[in-house]
Amino acid sequence: MVIASNTPATNPQAAGVIYVQGIPTAETRLTIGGSLHVSPMAIGTWAWGDRVWDYKPEMFDDIAATWDALQDSGINFFDTAEVYGRGESERIIGRLLKKAASQGKTPPVVATKFLPFPWRVRFPSSLLTALKASMERMGVDVIELYQIHGPTSLRSLEVLADALAEAVKLGLVKTVGVSNYSIDEMVRMHTALAKHGIQLASNQVEYSLLRRLPETTGLIAKCHELGVAVLAYSPLAMGRLTGKYTADNPPPSGRRFSDYPMTELAPLLAVMERIAKEHDVPMSAVALNYTICKGTIPLGGARNPEQALQNAKALGWRLSENEISELDGLSKVGGTGFWQHG
Ligand SMILES: NC(=O)c1ccc[n+]([C@@H]2O[C@H](COP(=O)([O-])OP(=O)(O)OC[C@H]3O[C@@H](n4cnc5c(N)ncnc54)[C@H](OP(=O)(O)O)[C@@H]3O)[C@@H](O)[C@H]2O)c1
Repeated sequence: MVIASNTPATNPQAAGVIYVQGIPTAETRLTIGGSLHVSPMAIGTWAWGDRVWDYKPEMFDDIAATWDALQDSGINFFDTAEVYGRGESERIIGRLLKKAASQGKTPPVVATKFLPFPWRVRFPSSLLTALKASMERMGVDVIELYQIHGPTSLRSLEVLADALAEAVKLGLVKTVGVSNYSIDEMVRMHTALAKHGIQLASNQVEYSLLRRLPETTGLIAKCHELGVAVLAYSPLAMGRLTGKYTADNPPPSGRRFSDYPMTELAPLLAVMERIAKEHDVPMSAVALNYTICKGTIPLGGARNPEQALQNAKALGWRLSENEISELDGLSKVGGTGFWQHG
């Protein structure tokens, strides 16, 4: 999908995604799933309400200010999940959507996710029940992008595809996606949805300078070929690529994705810092710009307006080919696991 000269966009006409050439800005809109018009960068809201991120209710005001700052800067795409804070992230978004409506503001595009717990075996009822609970928490009557959170269902992908299709046919969901799916799983889901006339909108995978696996396996290229948007989660490696954490000041425990010792990351961080200075942007903007240059929509988390505005500086410029090669040389590939097939 997305953007730019060095993006390996093998099939620009693929259904569901409009490719944008050139430099993405906050005003750029990409069309995903054939009908959602989203900014080239999204915001992840796992930290909003979840104890992994040590959320406390008194943080709500900062989150509300973050939400406003992002939309003022042109970013209109947010990602949550039913399990983030056991529904609290969706409830927070519900409060923010209500406030936006009372102010007459255009609501942003909000994506959420269904977790296929092993005990959820009856379909489509399990999915529809969870979906309606998410809608209730967010106070919406349609979900713009509904994603299968991970490849953990005891039922087949085709059964899940039928359940997603049912949600679309009932008008409860506009577009559908998956997350953590391998190439083969994604292709199967794409095919199963196509039988219902539905385009698979997205595959959300961990992708950053510390996990280039989706690039090296060809997953990103396959997404481009199929017109599936790649949503790159943990693009800041849970804060490790922002410059805030060092060997002497490591991130809090529990940040399990790309959990490398900070000493190992020092050479990469030094180059990122130099590049950030040359472009007069924060280091987090370099990390996010890198993922955009590789044809993904980064889903960076932000906990306060300062972080949000720093991260928004990823838009409006692009890394040079030489800078990308230099960063490639210091990056990590990462691996797969129970949760992460893609
Ligand atoms: N589908 C999946 O399985 C899956 C898995 C993980 C994440 N996700 C999605 O991806 C989103 C983003 O991933 P993530 O939250 O894991 O990690 P991330 O985006 O890599 O890192 C976000 C964290 O980095 C810190 N940060 C952000 N901007 C900063 C800045 N400018 N300066 C300094 N620190 C900054 C903040 O935490 P501190 O301030 O506390 O350091 C922030 O919460 C999630 O919110 C979620 O929507 C999906």
